[in-house]
Amino acid sequence: MTTLPQGHREFDDDIPSAPCSVDLVALEALAAELASLDYTVDGVGSLLGGPAYSALGRGQFAPALLEARRLLRHGHAEAVDRTGHADLTGARPVGNAGADRTGHADPVDARHAAGDTTGDLRAVPVLLWLLGEDVTEDDLRTAFPGIGLVGLERLRLIERIPQGPAPAGGTGADQESAGPAPASAGTTLASAGTDQVPSAWRAAVELRPYASDVGGNLWVASDLGSEQRPGRLRHDHVLGIGGASLTLAQAVMRAPVDRALDLGTGCGIQAFHLLAHARHVTLTDISARALAFARFNLLLNAPALGLAAHQPGERVSLRLGSLLEPVEGERFDLVVSNPPFVITPRTGDPAESYTYRDGGLAGDAIVETLVRELPGILTPGGAAQLLGNWEITEGTGWERRIRGFVPPGVDAWIIQREQLTPVQYAETWLRDAAENRDRDAYLRSYADYLADFASRDVEGIGFGSVWLRRPRTPSDLVRVTLEEITHEIEQPVGPHLAAAVGRADWLADHTEQAASGIGIAEEFLLVADDVTEERHQRPGAEHPGVILLRQGAGLRRTTLLSTELAGFVSACDGDLTAGQIAGALAMLLDRPDAAFTSELLVDVEQLIREGFLIPAV
Ligand SMILES: C[S@@+](CC[C@H](N)C(=O)[O-])C[C@H]1O[C@@H](n2cnc3c(N)ncnc32)[C@H](O)[C@@H]1O
Repeated sequence: MTTLPQGHREFDDDIPSAPCSVDLVALEALAAELASLDYTVDGVGSLLGGPAYSALGRGQFAPALLEARRLLRHGHAEAVDRTGHADLTGARPVGNAGADRTGHADPVDARHAAGDTTGDLRAVPVLLWLLGEDVTEDDLRTAFPGIGLVGLERLRLIERIPQGPAPAGGTGADQESAGPAPASAGTTLASAGTDQVPSAWRAAVELRPYASDVGGNLWVASDLGSEQRPGRLRHDHVLGIGGASLTLAQAVMRAPVDRALDLGTGCGIQAFHLLAHARHVTLTDISARALAFARFNLLLNAPALGLAAHQPGERVSLRLGSLLEPVEGERFDLVVSNPPFVITPRTGDPAESYTYRDGGLAGDAIVETLVRELPGILTPGGAAQLLGNWEITEGTGWERRIRGFVPPGVDAWIIQREQLTPVQYAETWLRDAAENRDRDAYLRSYADYLADFASRDVEGIGFGSVWLRRPRTPSDLVRVTLEEITHEIEQPVGPHLAAAVGRADWLADHTEQAASGIGIAEEFLLVADDVTEERHQRPGAEHPGVILLRQGAGLRRTTLLSTELAGFVSACDGDLTAGQIAGALAMLLDRPDAAFTSELLVDVEQLIREGFLIPAV
């Protein structure tokens, strides 16, 4: 039994509709058995095979379901051939004959020992927790001989399906309906061709392997999605690792910090990454269920995350509450947030809102609140990174409204990655929560979305990332940069964003020095390694009509160069200072005026800011 510090507001430690994390021994046993079943990202990939696995990544369950069902029925003989393993156990550590290093029985070997060499038990957790399929009691018992059915049920990872005549097809039941539903998305494997469903179990949650730079293989529990459990999501649905979660995780600049905050933690995914470079991480959420999932995930993965399972409070603290309220009066070096930024019509019907995506405020007020208030909880030099949607009012540029949220005296870099019309936005979010199953309800919700946007003259909705930094001292120069980057960028982009911030700081230092006559003119510059030049000219033309610099990495920018700037860049090999190159060009082009040099150096600064040129150090 363990407790995590819970901040100021008391909240229930054990929520019946979320996994239970009070039994550390059971969690340890579960982790050992999942590892033993090779229930990892690579393990599942090699089990299902490339096509089925990549289809799963696209949200297409069918090939994975067919393959996992086949593996469980007909065993691993073919799987062994396909994955190239001489024997299933051969892929495991030497000496793993029937028991793993923790002393737990290996379920695959246990099945072999029992003389049953047909089914591939690695398919059991895949079918159950990834694909939402019902699993027989026998298969569960054999796959998890250590923790067993009782242990899995006590952790609230599985729930029994009532016995009785097999229902025809899925129910389409609302996930919020009380009590276990009569059938899940899948059918009970052993039920085919019989009238009676043998005792079967289904997942109570999703439990997904996650490979990360943090500590290797993790398992992350969240609520089942609508693919796994048809019907409307429950209101306090706890989101698994989604596209936005990964977008943010990949964008975070991961310098070592003392205290970090994950605001709106959900299943805890951002906090897991933060634990790799923050001494202490505070996780907040408005949903006690979300915190219960996060707590379960932290403790299940404690060794990989560098947490002492018996004393997790040394590194993490869980807080219940809205926005900044649970951390009032505290300061953080880094705040990350994938907040509930989805703009939702305020119809007054609580059934229309989902805590994972809707913060309960009108329009883009949740993003506005965070952008305005987060700088106030940062230490000097501390930064916040968040994702968000912002409204674009009719007749204005996309940057106007979001720019207005940034408080004075704060460094900001806002990148718009996508812009949708109100119609596209309504479609996206109605589809997301499986709200498009009932035609009338769908139409009503669609109309609500359009009316809501129209009431504020919204013609577009921007999506992107926001970086905010509190200056180290009040006299530091601050800069607000807004740009639209809609092409594909390199991932993870975080290191490139950090390098860009480093270059901007370097330029700011030189701008301050410029008053004393130093500036970048004294600096040696190099062309960044990923940069290439393209010249385009009409056939037969004497000179190129277009000269471009292109980045192969990071934000993958392209920029147009004047002939002078192209000449400057080609001389940036670290031998001459920027001032010397500019001077030589002025002579060559017969432009001895000071304006030529200073305008050229302003353009050079922009090339440094964008990473085409870098200081030679
Ligand atoms: C989009 S999910 C993000 C989950 C996770 N951090 C991730 O990156 O995938 C937003 C989370 O914010 C929580 N939330 C909603 N309203 C909130 C509020 N007013 N204050 C704090 N958290 C809130 C939701 O419960 C949900 O867990």
